Amino acid sequence: MAAINFKKITNLYFLKVINNMKKLQQAFLVALVSLFFLISCNNNPTTEQSMKKCSQTSWGTADNKPVNLFTLTNSKGDIVKISNYGGTVTSWLTADKNGKIADVVVGFDSLSGYLAKPPYFGSTIGRYGNRIAKGIFSIDTATYHLATNNGANHLHGGNKGFDKVVWDVVPTPDSLASLTLHYLSVDGEEGYPGNLDVTVVFTLSDDNTLSFDYSATTDKTTPVNLTNHSYFNLTGDITQTILNHRLQVHADKFTPVDTGLITTGVLQDVKETPFDFLQPHAIGERIASVPGGYDHNFVLNRTTADNELVATVTDAVSGRVLEVFTTEPGMQFYTGNFLDGTIKTSQGIAIQQHTALCLETQHFPDSPNKLAFPTTLLKPGEKYHTVTAYKVSVASVK
Ligand code: GLA
Repeated sequence: MAAINFKKITNLYFLKVINNMKKLQQAFLVALVSLFFLISCNNNPTTEQSMKKCSQTSWGTADNKPVNLFTLTNSKGDIVKISNYGGTVTSWLTADKNGKIADVVVGFDSLSGYLAKPPYFGSTIGRYGNRIAKGIFSIDTATYHLATNNGANHLHGGNKGFDKVVWDVVPTPDSLASLTLHYLSVDGEEGYPGNLDVTVVFTLSDDNTLSFDYSATTDKTTPVNLTNHSYFNLTGDITQTILNHRLQVHADKFTPVDTGLITTGVLQDVKETPFDFLQPHAIGERIASVPGGYDHNFVLNRTTADNELVATVTDAVSGRVLEVFTTEPGMQFYTGNFLDGTIKTSQGIAIQQHTALCLETQHFPDSPNKLAFPTTLLKPGEKYHTVTAYKVSVASVK
């Protein structure tokens, strides 16, 4: 009996050891998988979990590549959604002065809205934001011909700019409200010289600032001018225009344009013109005297090379305030002049003229052909780096 018991005990002991080893193995595997998910929000196709500040869902495919929608959340409860299709900010949910949450940017709920080629709603713009006259420029003795996709001119990177490509997702911890996207724009794409390696880091901080950190390198000299093309309506209601929003821009000068919206090369004083926003003005106050509406680059008054406050927009009804910070020398103020009701939101609301505004930080338009403007040329061995941030807050209720 004693021998049998001993055998049994020995067998049981070994079984236990084997079981424990299996458990250990399982625990190790679980730990490994959790670690993987922990360090890479962007590889973790799950829905929101409490501690996460970045989560993602599948959003379909484009160019046979998977497209995802990323949700960044901060401690204030602001929610920003960004897709790796076009590096597009699709939504920014934020409270008004009464705590009512609404979306302050124009965007769609599904990828199909973006595949229909809307006018750059929330997109990352590149390789060159804004216009290049006739799509032609020269560097030394070489002349380059870009795609002409805006009348006779080149606009926002061409037919298939950075807003219409699927960006690679660089894994970042999902404990951060941050998304890193990468894109390699190959030599000759849309007519541009050089392989351009681009990274954009989007970060939503706890003070409701959405920042864009752009960096790039090239293997041939090329113009680079990256921006974000979010359309804001601080009322959070796309049936309202932005004409009652008040705008302040720290710019003594702007760059006038010709009938094709190409900069003339002149830096004009804003004084005694409808472009004087040195003190806040309602956007609608003088818009009638700007043919077509505002679609102009402001020459920002910079005092440092830092990410400086350059513009403020306020909406008295919602109490929301939008501040724009940038390291860039210019900013395109666009009042949604070409919106004409033909595009509808995902809820079926027609998006009418002047129902949203863009503040596109940038170098001055057509700078490859306006040699007196700050250069946009990036050379091999150099690093392109700019930062822009939009901060949304509410004015204190009086
Ligand atoms: C930019 C341009 C505008 C217009 C919009 C998109 O803001 O300056 O002229 O093309 O993009 O419609």
